[in-house]
Amino acid sequence: MIHLQQALWSGRFSAGMDDSTLAFTSSLDVDSHLAFYDVMGSLAHVRMLKKCGVIPAEDADSIVAGLKDILTKVEDGTFEFDHSLEDVHTCIEFSLTEAIGPAGGKLHTGRSRNDQVATDFRMYLRDEALRAAEAVNGLMMALVKVAEDNGDAVMPGFTHMQHAQPVTLAQHMLAHAFRFSRDADRFLDAFRRMDKCPLGCAALAGTTYPIDRRMTAEALGFREPTENSMDSVSDRDFVTELAYCAAQTAVHLSSLCEELVLWSSQEFGFIEMDDRYTTGSSIMPQKKNPDIAELVRGKTGAVVGALMTMITMTKGLPLTYNRDLQEDKRPVMESMATVIASAQIMSKVVATTTFHRDRMLEVTSRGQINATDLADYLVTKGVPFREAHGIVGAAVRHSIDTGRNLEDMDLEELRTFSDRIEEDVYDVLPVVRCVERRNSYGGTSPQSTDIQISKAIEQIMVRDEVIRQENQLIQNCWKALRD
Ligand code: ARG
Repeated sequence: MIHLQQALWSGRFSAGMDDSTLAFTSSLDVDSHLAFYDVMGSLAHVRMLKKCGVIPAEDADSIVAGLKDILTKVEDGTFEFDHSLEDVHTCIEFSLTEAIGPAGGKLHTGRSRNDQVATDFRMYLRDEALRAAEAVNGLMMALVKVAEDNGDAVMPGFTHMQHAQPVTLAQHMLAHAFRFSRDADRFLDAFRRMDKCPLGCAALAGTTYPIDRRMTAEALGFREPTENSMDSVSDRDFVTELAYCAAQTAVHLSSLCEELVLWSSQEFGFIEMDDRYTTGSSIMPQKKNPDIAELVRGKTGAVVGALMTMITMTKGLPLTYNRDLQEDKRPVMESMATVIASAQIMSKVVATTTFHRDRMLEVTSRGQINATDLADYLVTKGVPFREAHGIVGAAVRHSIDTGRNLEDMDLEELRTFSDRIEEDVYDVLPVVRCVERRNSYGGTSPQSTDIQISKAIEQIMVRDEVIRQENQLIQNCWKALRD
C-alpha cells in the first residue's frame, strides 16, 4: 500500500512504505507537542515569502488564513494528527493543503523540515528554559525565606557527615540557595545562546529564493538569524546544553532532598514536613514518609540520563542533518518537565516545613564541635596553630573520656592543657558565640548571612525581571503573528 506520507513525495518511489517502517520512523507521538511552534514558524515564513515576493500575495493570504484555523484547533486540542504521516511538520502542511487546496503546497518554498524542526525545537526549549529559570528562582526564594526567618538558629555543620563546626540554619539554607542561583542563571545563559533562528537555512545549503531571514527571526522573537546553514541544521548544542542545565539542577535538588530526608528522620529530628507534602504507610500507622523529596531525588537518574543520551547521540555525526537527530526530543522534553515540576513542588515543601530549632541547638552542643574555636583562641594567645591543634586534640580526648563538652570544664581543668588559657575562653566556646564570631565575608555569622540574604534577593529580582521581559517579547510576537 502507498502510505499518505509517500503519496506526498511519491515521485521517487515505486513501492510503498511498510507499516512497520512508518511506525518505526514516526516522531508524531513526541513532536506533536511542537505543533503550536510549528504553526507560528509557518506563519512567520509565509508572511516573509509574501513580503519578498517569492509567492503570490493571494496564495500567501490563503495560507495564513488556513494556518490560523489550524492554530485554533491546535490550541483547543481538536487538531487531528494523522498517524499515517511521520511527523508534526508533515501533518500540519498536509492538513493545510487539504483545507485550502494547492496553494498550501507553496508554504514549503525556501525551507525544509531540517531548518523547520531546528526552529520549532528552539522555540519550545526557549519557553522551557524560561519556565525552568522561573521555577528554580521560586525555590531559591523559598530557601532564602527560611534563612530570613531563622537568622540565628544554630545547627551542626558537617564535613564527611561528621560534626565539623557550628553553623546557622540560615547559612545552610543559603548554601542551597546560591547553588540554585547558578542553576537559574545557567538556564538564562543557555536561553541567550539558543536565541538565534535557523529558519531559512533550508535543507543544508540555504536557498536560491530571495528570502529575508532577519524578518522571520524577528517575527519569531529571536535576536538574529543563525550564521551558517550547515551548522544550523546540524546544531543540537542548545538541546545538550539545556540537558546539562537540567541535570545540574537535578543534582542540586537531589542533594537538598537527601538532607531533608535525613533531617526528617527520628535520628536527626531537625524538621517536620507538612502533612500536605508527605505520605502515610499502608501498614505502619505511625509513619510519615518524605516521599516527595525521595521522588525528586530518584528522578535525577532519568534527568542525568537525558544528558548522556544527547552527548552520545550527537557524537561522531557527520554534517549536516541525519535522522539520528530526531531522537533529541523526548529525553530533553521530559528532563525539562521533570526539573520544572520538581523545583515547583520543592518550593512548597521547603516553605511549609517546620524547623525544630531547639533540637538543632541541642545536638550542636554535643561532640566538641567548638574544638576549632579553642585552637583559634590559643592562636590569639600566641600559640602556633599546629601546636594549638595538638593541645586541643588532647583536651578533646579528655572531654570524650569524661563525657563532657569543652565548655563544661572549669578553668583549672582547661589550663592543664595549656597555661595560655584564661577566663576569656568562655566567651569563645559557646556554640552561639562560635557562629557569631565567624564574621568573615561569606561566613556563617548572622551579620554575614544578612548580607547574603540581600544579595540573594537581588539576584532573584534581577532574574525575575529578565524572565518577565523575555516572556513578554515572545508573547508580543505570537500576538503579532495571529493578527
Ligand atoms: N521528524 C524529523 C526530526 O524530528 C524532522 C526532520 C526530518 N528531516 C528529514 N530530512 N527526514 O528530525
